[in-house]
Order: sequence, then structure tokens, then C-alpha cells
Amino acid sequence: MKVTIVGAGNVGASCAEYILLKEIVDEIILLDIKEGFAEGKALDLTQTTSTLGFKSKVTGVTNDYSKTSNSDVVVITSGIPRKPGMTREELIGINAGIVKSVSENLLKHSPNAIIIVVSNPMDTMTYLVNKSFDIPRNRIIGMGGILDSSRFKTYISKFTNHNQHDIHAMVIGGHGDTTMIPLTSLARCKNELLSDIVSKDELKNIASQTMVGGATLTKLLGTSAWYAPGASVSYLVKAIINDTKEVLPCSVYLEGEYNANDICIGVPSIIGKNGFEGVVELDLNQKEFEMFNNSIDAVKQTNFTLNGLI
Ligand code: LAC
Repeated sequence: MKVTIVGAGNVGASCAEYILLKEIVDEIILLDIKEGFAEGKALDLTQTTSTLGFKSKVTGVTNDYSKTSNSDVVVITSGIPRKPGMTREELIGINAGIVKSVSENLLKHSPNAIIIVVSNPMDTMTYLVNKSFDIPRNRIIGMGGILDSSRFKTYISKFTNHNQHDIHAMVIGGHGDTTMIPLTSLARCKNELLSDIVSKDELKNIASQTMVGGATLTKLLGTSAWYAPGASVSYLVKAIINDTKEVLPCSVYLEGEYNANDICIGVPSIIGKNGFEGVVELDLNQKEFEMFNNSIDAVKQTNFTLNGLI
């Protein structure tokens, strides 16, 4: 198995690190446009082989897409991250052109790869890849919901003291501060509903902290986060490579599911060796359904700004 990661910045390098640790691939190619940068990250990671004890190889390249040929999975992290005070949507002007040309180069050398999009604004970048290339929708997956759900579980754990491993909770909708929908009504700690063990105010607080989870980190770090994003990508790559058929919230192109069309947005998706192999339609309550529709409108508005950009 071969995985290519484009962008050797914080998120790309963390993706590489966690995929290496999971021992699920033979080879990782880390590609960056900055001369020598991916080579440096790959060499540093290679020097953890004996102490961390993994077998996979990692190679860094400067913009040489020929080295990425025949990748099974490609991960696009390239573009600029947000700075404190910025929304993910504000990155579209720079990132749209980058994501389009990176995908074009990747597909030239790995026409059958499954593409994971991480660059922001992620739902719109996933839509852009769907619209720009004639490839089946199941092979294009936006990663955001797994990350947002891991932040949701972190805040649930903080408020309830439950171990994160005992928490079942999902975030759907857009990967944006105002567009994501932490599904508080369905969240459970062991077999108890979260709504039965915390107050209404606490429930609201958990949801709102989750929604600005990325912005909180951006403020603390001066740039956007990388450990949890990298770990979330590695989780998704493992589900694809091991064909686990797990249901994970991912941004996928909808053709009628959830009454939505012509949009990529986070929905529970069955993940396996063919990419996303189906969408699970949850029984949302009326409020959640309204929130989902508002999220669709907001993501469509961002998609609309692609006109004229690329
Ligand atoms: C975040 C970025 C990666 O949420 O979208 O941290």
C-alpha cells in the first residue's frame, strides 16, 4: 500500500507520522513545493524508525509527482492554514487554485487513487475536486467530521468525566465554526444519553465549544492545529486500507441523500476500500434537520464563490 501526502507542513507531517505508527502502509511519499522541506521532514521521521519500531518507509520529494505514481490513497493538505481571527472560508481565494492543480498532478500519476481533502474551506475544496475531474464520487472524501467529532468527545469528556473511549458522538454538517452540527441529542456516554446526564446549559456549552474548537486552537497556537487533524486523517486512511466499513462523518458529494444535491457536506459515511461506500441517513429531529439545511445553504454560498476563482 502506498499513500501520498501533499503538503509537508504541520498537518501533512502529522498525517505521515500517525500513518507510519499505525503500520498500515508500505510506503509514504511526502511532497511539498518548498525545496528540501519534505525531504527534511521525511528524513527526520525515518530517524524515528528504530526508536518507534515501525516498518513503513517515508520519502520526501520537492514537487516531483512522478514519485507519487500508483498511490492507493492521496491526502491533500496543501494551501495556507488560518491565522487567529480568520474563518476557514477566508482561505478560499488562495487554496482553491492550489487544490485544483495538486489534484490534477496527483491524478495524472495515480488515476485510481482515493483522494482525501483536508485543505480549507474543506467542504468547498472537496466539492471543487468533484466538479473538476471526472471520477466517481465515492473516491473523494473530505476530512473534517472525524476531527470535529474528536473535539466534541473531548468536551463531552471534560463535562462528564467519562473516558473518551466510552463516548459515542458525532458532528455532521459543514466543517465551519457556524456550519457544523454537534449531534447532542444522539450523543451517548456508555449507554446513557448525554442529554440525561448534563444540564441544558451544559449541553449548549459543549456544542458551542466544539464548534469553535479549531478557532480556540488557532488562537492559542497562532496557526491551525495539527495533532488531532493528522490523527483524524490517519484514522480515515486506516478505515480505507483495512476496509473496515466503519461509519465516519465525512464530507461527500450528495446525490439526494438528506434531500441534498450538488454539495459536499459532512454526513455519516460508510468507509471501506472503495472510499465512501454509502451514506447512513440518521433520524434527525426537526431542529437538527433545520440546522442541517442552514449548513447546506452556507456551504453552497461558499461554493458559489468558486465561480471566477478557478
Ligand atoms: C482544524 C483545521 C485543520 O479544524 O480545519 O483544525
